[in-house]
Amino acid sequence: MSFPARRPRRLRRTPALRRLVAETRLHPADLILPVFVREGLTEPSPISSMPGVVQHTEATLLEAADEARELGLGGIMLFGIPAVRDASGTASLDPEGILNRSIRAVKERVGEELPVMSDLCLDEFTDHGHCGVLTADGAVDNDATLEIYAQMGVAQAEAGADVVAPSGMMDGQVAVIRQALDDAGHQDVPILAYSAKYASAFYGPFREAVDSQLSGDRRTYQMDAPNRTEALREAELDITEGADMIMVKPATAYLDILADVAEISDVPVAAYQVSGEYAMIEAAAAQGWIDRRAVILESITAIRRAGATNVLTYHAAEIAGWLRENS
Ligand code: PBG
Repeated sequence: MSFPARRPRRLRRTPALRRLVAETRLHPADLILPVFVREGLTEPSPISSMPGVVQHTEATLLEAADEARELGLGGIMLFGIPAVRDASGTASLDPEGILNRSIRAVKERVGEELPVMSDLCLDEFTDHGHCGVLTADGAVDNDATLEIYAQMGVAQAEAGADVVAPSGMMDGQVAVIRQALDDAGHQDVPILAYSAKYASAFYGPFREAVDSQLSGDRRTYQMDAPNRTEALREAELDITEGADMIMVKPATAYLDILADVAEISDVPVAAYQVSGEYAMIEAAAAQGWIDRRAVILESITAIRRAGATNVLTYHAAEIAGWLRENS
């Protein structure tokens, strides 16, 4: 009988020893809370496929922002749902449109203590639900869309966004937005680029969250699930074009991609735990099939361990509350 010389179990014996050697820790500042604000709403409206998440009114959005600031979250990411949509997403450029107006209101409310980030994409604003404008034959027109993205970036920066986050996966979007921001005197507004964003069925509940008008899919612009090296190409392009931070999305089913991208990136890498990931956890927890809190914390820990500096999660505020209890 020979006994082991090395015993990894020694460092697992007590919670304090395990804490001592933990290679990954969670902090509220790691977390970014995505929020939805809908024009014309008088009461918050629950999203049935995302229990616990609502479409905010402009008033309750400010309460959510207060809470996020008070909890010390890393940031808040705003998605706007306009009352009126059209083919080119005009409301996205209107300084008084729902998203730009909300950026301004939240910024006034939270000051410098909470970074306010804005989704820079057309899908919430178009009546066809695509992330860009369409050609006569219905294809998504990359370069015509870039012209609108450039103006959106400037509109969001003028409204006070601390970070703009282009999520439309148009080729060249980071470069044109950077140029437009610089030309308008917003050299100091960073770009968080959705670099490796996959055409994913995990976005299902989000489509309800923003009352998406999409029929069809986004497979001609978002990435194809089988591809891995392509994510490195996308990340490198965005970094070269001037992205200050990049993102991988979804998170849990794409941890290999996240690890690969984190390995080559010299800018911070965020990951988005998307609506379908949220919904699956909530659904299983509601059945009593999993330990809700443990699964939420384990999933975010795994995303951080794979290499994410920051995690966008609909559980951000709740997690920050737990972390506070434990400290
Ligand atoms: C597009 C956008 C989407 C999400 C974030 N930004 C939807 C899509 O690409 O279809 C999905 C987020 C989620 O599922 O939680 N503006």
